[in-house]
Amino acid sequence: MVTLDQIVQYAKSTGFIFQGSELYGGLANTWDYGPLGSLLKKNIKDAWTLKFQRETPNNVLLDSSILLNSEVWKASGHVGGFSDPLTECKSCNQRFRADQLIENHDNTLNADGWDTDKMYQYLVEHKVPCPNCDKSDYLPIRKFNMMFQTYQGVILEQANQIFLRPETAQGIFIQFKNIQRSTRKKIPFGVCQVGKAFRNEITPGNFIFRTREFEQMELEYFVKPGTELDWFDYWKTYCMDWLVNLGLRKDDLAFDDHSPEALSHYSNATTDIKYRFPWGFDELWGIASRTDFDLKAHQTHSGEDLTYLDPESNERYLPYVIEPSVGVERLLLAFLTSAYDEETLDNGDIRQILHIHPALAPYKAAVLPLIKKSHGEKAFAVYQMLSKYFDVSYDETQSIGKRYRRQDSIGTYLCITVDHDTEKDETVTVRNRDTMEQVRIPINELKAYIEEAVKF
Ligand code: GAP
Repeated sequence: MVTLDQIVQYAKSTGFIFQGSELYGGLANTWDYGPLGSLLKKNIKDAWTLKFQRETPNNVLLDSSILLNSEVWKASGHVGGFSDPLTECKSCNQRFRADQLIENHDNTLNADGWDTDKMYQYLVEHKVPCPNCDKSDYLPIRKFNMMFQTYQGVILEQANQIFLRPETAQGIFIQFKNIQRSTRKKIPFGVCQVGKAFRNEITPGNFIFRTREFEQMELEYFVKPGTELDWFDYWKTYCMDWLVNLGLRKDDLAFDDHSPEALSHYSNATTDIKYRFPWGFDELWGIASRTDFDLKAHQTHSGEDLTYLDPESNERYLPYVIEPSVGVERLLLAFLTSAYDEETLDNGDIRQILHIHPALAPYKAAVLPLIKKSHGEKAFAVYQMLSKYFDVSYDETQSIGKRYRRQDSIGTYLCITVDHDTEKDETVTVRNRDTMEQVRIPINELKAYIEEAVKF
């Protein structure tokens, strides 16, 4: 299996991901998405939106603000409770999340539901070594709130304090009534949102896996109370199928259903889809049945009636919610890790190749003139025609073999070569990245050919 270092190197050298603020020595755990990375990110978000919203007629989109009234975060429990258990090694002064230290020490444990005393007791009793200096002497655990604070307006005082959202979900809950009224959606229906979220993580790391700024794709699916566990199962399967249909291998994926003791107080079922990252299985996608906890909290705190009148039963109730929530960057890392491959060719050369699903590939195709002087003009016209519909690349430098390799290494699904015969019969050679097979196709069929390839 590919190592994390290989992926970091590959992502940098090809233009997927660069270190943030590199020119100034970097800013810890920030990353910039280069020409290929930004295309891949866009394609992941499009693939999610396609299946979770466009092809699901009872789901709609929302694009809510990052900055919200601070009352939202009081009501949701984030001001009081969105904290991680922070401890510090007395010997080397490194800070750690106590729950992570415990889970890394014994991977059969899930310390989510533990209080700080129980965690501290465990660290002491089991002499859990510091990952940095190997000593085992920790400061007592305190709760560290992970919300980024800032101030609105020119006066830096408590009254003007606001937060950068730590999740996109609350933006959906507080607009539930407006969305339901304006769209006249009947329960069950869902609201999808893609957007940035910020968390002052104690221990970011593993490249783009855990960062302080990231993007979430969240669905809040509102259902009638009593039906939520069926919908929970439905969305579990739906999320898993989405991942597999986009090329992740089934045996690299697993559900981690939370035991009743590990469930959050508001949830009656939660699972994480875990993926086999280079360091082992880790959380990719959280799916939670959140009851009516969020709507009830906002109803109580705002004093506004958020109940829904069911036109069939004439009952009024607060809908229950199923929430699949996933980070774009974690998905990107999973897709890159899974697709990256190196093949040794007969002549001993290494062929670097990204077997990424065509729907996600940064470029669907590259248009290549066999000989720049003779075929450049025609090839460029083909490129212009296709670029109206897809991200395609145009490459006319170096030998055709080198250009194929270059496109393979960045995951371009098809190489379209314009040659001597193109002038005669308006056909081109289309080479498949994975099979390396070549077929001859009329130019006017290329669009349909690519459309078929990117379907999933
Ligand atoms: N609204 C529910 C919620 O935010 P979460 O489990 O805290 O739940 C959901 O986050 C998903 O967001 C995670 O499964 C992960 O994919 C992504 N995520 C959370 N924190 C992250 C971080 N610091 N860096 C990157 N992705 C993160």
